[in-house]
Amino acid sequence: MENDIPRTKVTAPAVLARKGGPKLKMVTAYDYPSAVIADRAGADIILVGDSLANVVLGYDETLAVDVDVMIHHTSAVARAEPAAMVLGDMPWLSYHVSVADSVANAGRMVRDGGAEAVKVEGGRKRLDVIKGILDAEIPVMGHLGLTPQSVHAMGGYKVQGKATEAAREMIRDAVALAEVGVFAMVLEGVPSLVAEIITKEVNVPTIGIGAGPLCDGQVLVFHDVLGLHDGHLPKFVRQYARLQETAIEALQSYFDDLEKGLFPNEDESYSMSEEAATALLRDEPRGDAFDAF
Ligand code: KIV
Repeated sequence: MENDIPRTKVTAPAVLARKGGPKLKMVTAYDYPSAVIADRAGADIILVGDSLANVVLGYDETLAVDVDVMIHHTSAVARAEPAAMVLGDMPWLSYHVSVADSVANAGRMVRDGGAEAVKVEGGRKRLDVIKGILDAEIPVMGHLGLTPQSVHAMGGYKVQGKATEAAREMIRDAVALAEVGVFAMVLEGVPSLVAEIITKEVNVPTIGIGAGPLCDGQVLVFHDVLGLHDGHLPKFVRQYARLQETAIEALQSYFDDLEKGLFPNEDESYSMSEEAATALLRDEPRGDAFDAF
């Protein structure tokens, strides 16, 4: 079984070397137990995505989370010490103000959050920032297409690059990101043909989500794959389990047992020595026995 095999640590150069090779397996995780599960399942990259805003914190948009929140969750994932790379998502406004500010924030993601690389949304207009972060020796993953932090600028969550010129612009962005030195890039919500062209054009791995089958890897959100919520699922999600239903059924069984007096049983309870019990019962029941408390 994959989860019994000790694995070597996945690094940015190792991800880069996978271009055109075995598909890269990436999934989000936002806390310690989900990181353990993702790693034991064989993930190459665990993304502590800013999607945690929607998925585990109940916000409507990823714009709700800042660097402190990302560090809180990234450090929980890092404490699982996965063989998979711990990739921290740079949240909105953490890399939009200045290069110096962006480098400092990326540094906090690494030093305080335990991230081994960071992900930045956007193309050519983010090149200066990406270069600054790379100059600080922090590997950067790019992210093009439907970039959720641009939800208002895009006018909603819409597939990007459907028109010819928009597709060409995205291809130019992808080439520029690869040239500046990202070690991989996410392509989200783009037509399969555009993802295919980008994957052929750039010498770094592409990791798709809603970008068709021809990318160098795929990423999905942990809770979507496992069916841990019953919210809307985009068409590109394949659900491999329905763990929310399983969890509800398990909790209902626990509550049923409780109601029926079947839980806890003797095996699930603690005992004391016969001697201590006899001494205790000798004085019992006497109201004044409890006066001391
Ligand atoms: O935040 C996230 O989960 C992401 C993935 C969808 C790529 O950025």
